[in-house]
Amino acid sequence: MTESTSGERLENLQKEATRVAGKSYSPYSGFKVGAALLLSNGSVVVGTNVENVSFGLTICAERSALVRAVSEFGPNIRIEAVAVANLNEAASPPCGACRQMLAEFAAADSLVVFPAAFGIKTMRFDEILPMGFEMKKLKNPAGKE
Ligand code: THU
Repeated sequence: MTESTSGERLENLQKEATRVAGKSYSPYSGFKVGAALLLSNGSVVVGTNVENVSFGLTICAERSALVRAVSEFGPNIRIEAVAVANLNEAASPPCGACRQMLAEFAAADSLVVFPAAFGIKTMRFDEILPMGFEMKKLKNPAGKE
């Protein structure tokens, strides 16, 4: 564990996620989610879920925080830790779409803190997304010698 992702830092990140969950726009689900990202530059960037009457247009708290972070600090941000919280006393690990989006900026050993079935859980990023999509050229593409 690095100094920047010490227990206290992660607890603070979790508090920030809970605080921003209070800003959620979720009239359709009533599920109030908050996310806080700890960046390698020391900044904490938060986001909440913003729903839409055309349900599929809803943006999750995690992606909301991510687009804010890039908008604020640019394309070279690195995520050291992610915290997720909700005000519904429910489990809420980041959804698959958010994991794939976060993967772009999060190292394999960055930490993800989220409400699980039996309380707050901390996992490494590569544990929650073991085989995300990558676009690397294959050495031996299928059908070629
Ligand atoms: N939601 C998030 O904010 N993050 C997730 O990872 C999963 C779901 C939101 C989207 C929607 O507003 C509500 O939770 C119910 O799905």
